[in-house]
Amino acid sequence: MTTVTAVRGDITEERVDAIVNAANNGMRGGGGVDGAIHRAGGPAVLEDCIARFPDGLATGDAGWTTAGDLPARWVIHTVGPNFAAGERDRSLLESCYRRVLEVADELGARSVAFPLISAGVYGWPRADAIEAAVATIAATRTRVEEVRLVAFDDAVHRQMQAVVLRLFRPPTGAGTVGSLFDRDVAQWGLRGDPYVWRALRARFADTPLPTDWFSLRSLLTRAVEEVIGTPLTSAADAVYLPEFDPGHGMSAGAVSPAWWAQTGIPILLDRQAALADPPSPPEPPTGPEPPDA
Ligand code: APR
Repeated sequence: MTTVTAVRGDITEERVDAIVNAANNGMRGGGGVDGAIHRAGGPAVLEDCIARFPDGLATGDAGWTTAGDLPARWVIHTVGPNFAAGERDRSLLESCYRRVLEVADELGARSVAFPLISAGVYGWPRADAIEAAVATIAATRTRVEEVRLVAFDDAVHRQMQAVVLRLFRPPTGAGTVGSLFDRDVAQWGLRGDPYVWRALRARFADTPLPTDWFSLRSLLTRAVEEVIGTPLTSAADAVYLPEFDPGHGMSAGAVSPAWWAQTGIPILLDRQAALADPPSPPEPPTGPEPPDA
């Protein structure tokens, strides 16, 4: 079972078996992640690139080298399509993630950290770059047990987290606040609300349930207000959060403070009450004894 998480940081510091480099066809270093990996890994990485990839690396393909001075054992280089130069074939971007996992399996790597391939210098639209990464990893059979998607800044991390939580629901402990979120709501407020729901489920996966509804209500209210950045009493009927927008614009990433105050949080309070005082099973039907069978 592969766990996938979105982490915020510098990929050169990730302590995993293999880190992935967003390289170019020449395979002789460059800027962005490529530059960071070659700087941190030292000359051994470039020497191995020259020895193992004398003719470079094709777009969509992947290949490994030593990681040199990096904490990881290997660097798995892959070359994404250059959107800015007109390379728009998404299957090449998906191929990067698939081929990296194939190479990781060949190496026996059990933990792999990916940057967001093609989303920097190569200019692939960020929302789609994240969707392509997460959906391809989810669809690829691999022996890799831990995949980390590394975001270099907070906005990218929140956007990544929203997509990862949709496809990779972290487990919640029994009797935790997070377990109240296990069952999705039949109807949502506006389109961003499911992302907030999943983000809170992950945040409270290990938080013991408070014993009283009032503490739970203030815990949930504070958490929702922190995510959406506005009080639930706000008159705003929708708050747009770009990190929840899969690229469709305003309504897709909108969250409804009123829905949370009047529906979302009350549903969760009801679930807590039901846990504390489970409804008694329905009484067996009374009435005349059934005729002997
Ligand atoms: N750790 C994690 N992520 C990083 C780091 C880092 N140290 N540095 C940059 N990123 C992020 C960027 O913010 C972007 O989201 O990695 C993603 C990929 O950006 P690039 O490194 O620019 O890679 P890419 O868009 O695939 O372009 C590849 O850029 O650096 C050159 O030689 C490289 O020609 C190649 C091209």
